[in-house]
Amino acid sequence: MADTQTRILLAERPQGLPGEDTFSVVSGPIPLPGPGEVLARTLLLSLDPAMRGWMDDRPSYVPPVELGAVMRSLAVGEVVRSENPAFAPGQRVAGLLGWQEYAALPAEELTPIPDGVDLPLALGPLGMTGMTAYFGLLEVGRPRTGETVLVSGAAGAVGSLVGQLAKIRDCRVVGIAGSDEKGRWLIDELGFDAAVNYKTTENLHAALRAACPDGVDVYFDNVGGETLDIALRLLNRGARVPICGAISGYNATEPPPGPASYLSLLVNRARMEGFIVLDYADRYGEAVEAISRWIAEGKIQARFDIVQGLENAPAALLKLFDGSNRGKLMVRVTER
Ligand SMILES: NC(=O)c1ccc[n+]([C@@H]2O[C@H](COP(=O)([O-])OP(=O)(O)OC[C@H]3O[C@@H](n4cnc5c(N)ncnc54)[C@H](OP(=O)(O)O)[C@@H]3O)[C@@H](O)[C@H]2O)c1
Repeated sequence: MADTQTRILLAERPQGLPGEDTFSVVSGPIPLPGPGEVLARTLLLSLDPAMRGWMDDRPSYVPPVELGAVMRSLAVGEVVRSENPAFAPGQRVAGLLGWQEYAALPAEELTPIPDGVDLPLALGPLGMTGMTAYFGLLEVGRPRTGETVLVSGAAGAVGSLVGQLAKIRDCRVVGIAGSDEKGRWLIDELGFDAAVNYKTTENLHAALRAACPDGVDVYFDNVGGETLDIALRLLNRGARVPICGAISGYNATEPPPGPASYLSLLVNRARMEGFIVLDYADRYGEAVEAISRWIAEGKIQARFDIVQGLENAPAALLKLFDGSNRGKLMVRVTER
């Protein structure tokens, strides 16, 4: 094992999109695990839109990353030293390892990854991404057989799982995504009933109305902004709107305009509800079991966009915001 490691620190709070000065790459010592701690070598990093919010100094569901601290990131790794009997060297684990090659963390902050589970699956459909889709759709959205589920960010990591889960629940599923290639993947490979390209469609409202002839019973929102506003106009009576994310505003330097159509919730006795996946932490086991079964049965697929090299993490993160990621975005830190 080497003595030093590469770490990527938050150097500056970005205005708008993160740029060249946002992060600094430094070399530093590999920490020793303290009592009860585990030293893990990072294998694969998860890149998530929420990381943009963690860079801002404002209250949220987790504290901001401190300036000069290692950039926070979910990841999977392998235990190389352990001062805790719960973990032995060689055990693969998931946790907030951060943008660094090695992290020493208390054992209770790590989750073991069962043998035989591929690492991209552990960060994708069986990780936070899958938990978000599972609980956001099934608990907050509560789709019923035959209903229409509309999802934005549909070709993304969360959105593509939401659509497949809604098909398992026998719903009509319509996805909104930013390219025709993504739309074809949703329909041809994942079984979506229709897809709309919000970047090229001249009249998004008309296109969505045509794709959802019976209106929308569940609108699963990943993007916020104008798309949310248009989706609200299509709600049926009693509709549910899980608010999962609002990526269209994450790099905005001015507060994004709020939806003008929110009174549709009132008229339609509809429910729009924000959620954070962490609220369901005590039920992840149930979701992992169900999603694993659906993957084995061929009912759920995932695609992964894996960028090689820790030093490429800052540039790779931007793929989430220009839509060039194809599936769950990750960074492979080592060759394995
Ligand atoms: N509530 C929770 O607990 C929770 C947990 C995890 C994730 N989330 C949220 O879930 C959403 C999806 O996350 P993910 O990890 O699955 O990422 P992802 O969907 O795999 O990647 C982000 C996608 O967002 C789309 N996008 C980027 N900028 C956009 C814009 N201005 N307008 C519309 N679409 C835009 C792009 O696709 P296009 O080509 O389609 O534009 C891009 O590929 C995010 O909002 C995230 O914050 C919430």
